[in-house]
Amino acid sequence: TIGKSTNILWQGCMVKREDRQRMLNQKGCVIWITGLSGSGKSTLACTLDHALLQRGKLSYVLDGDNVRHGLNNNLGFSAEDRAENIRRVGEVAKLFADAGVICIASFISPYKRDRDACRKLMAPGDFIEVYMDVALDVCEQRDSKGLYKLARAGKIKGFTGVDDPYESPQEPEIVMKAVNGVYATPQEMTVQMLAYLEDNG
Ligand code: PPS
Repeated sequence: TIGKSTNILWQGCMVKREDRQRMLNQKGCVIWITGLSGSGKSTLACTLDHALLQRGKLSYVLDGDNVRHGLNNNLGFSAEDRAENIRRVGEVAKLFADAGVICIASFISPYKRDRDACRKLMAPGDFIEVYMDVALDVCEQRDSKGLYKLARAGKIKGFTGVDDPYESPQEPEIVMKAVNGVYATPQEMTVQMLAYLEDNG
């Protein structure tokens, strides 16, 4: 899409992404964690962030709740606002990856179109989509913030999974789901993530 900014040119710098990556001894990328509220996105993001730090790798978590306190505090939860939320986060995540950082983005990001638009922004291989495939009733039972209860009572309108859609990813790089009815712990998921990152450079 064409924005409102006209008469602008791209300003390049001498220091390139490769230079920063060499300095940091790592490759920048975007790990995009999507799933329902209560599916464990933020917990995985923070556990992985910590595990990377312990391995001497620089990462940074962008989280829905946090980003909506600042950069995106003018956005609500309509389809248009969610799209703009994800568009801005995608652009910020791209800057982090360009800075050589492993950016962990944790957003419900319920619409496939918005997630795919973020993927398109990145270089091939730079966007790792992680789907937290947790059943709605499990998320609702956890209800750590009490939001499902409010949504069921009609006190929150348009709550994802209750009266707002969630479009599951069709081809995510990684799916976190229950095996024989048992969900992996955040530590186990982190081990799986680290293995994926190592295997893929
Ligand atoms: S989105 O859909 O990607 O733009 O949402 P996101 O920026 O990740 O924000 C999700 C958090 O906002 C809280 N919240 C809601 N979620 C879904 N639907 C509605 N209507 C809503 N209202 C508030 C909720 O705490 C989400 O946090 P998580 O971490 O997902 O539980």
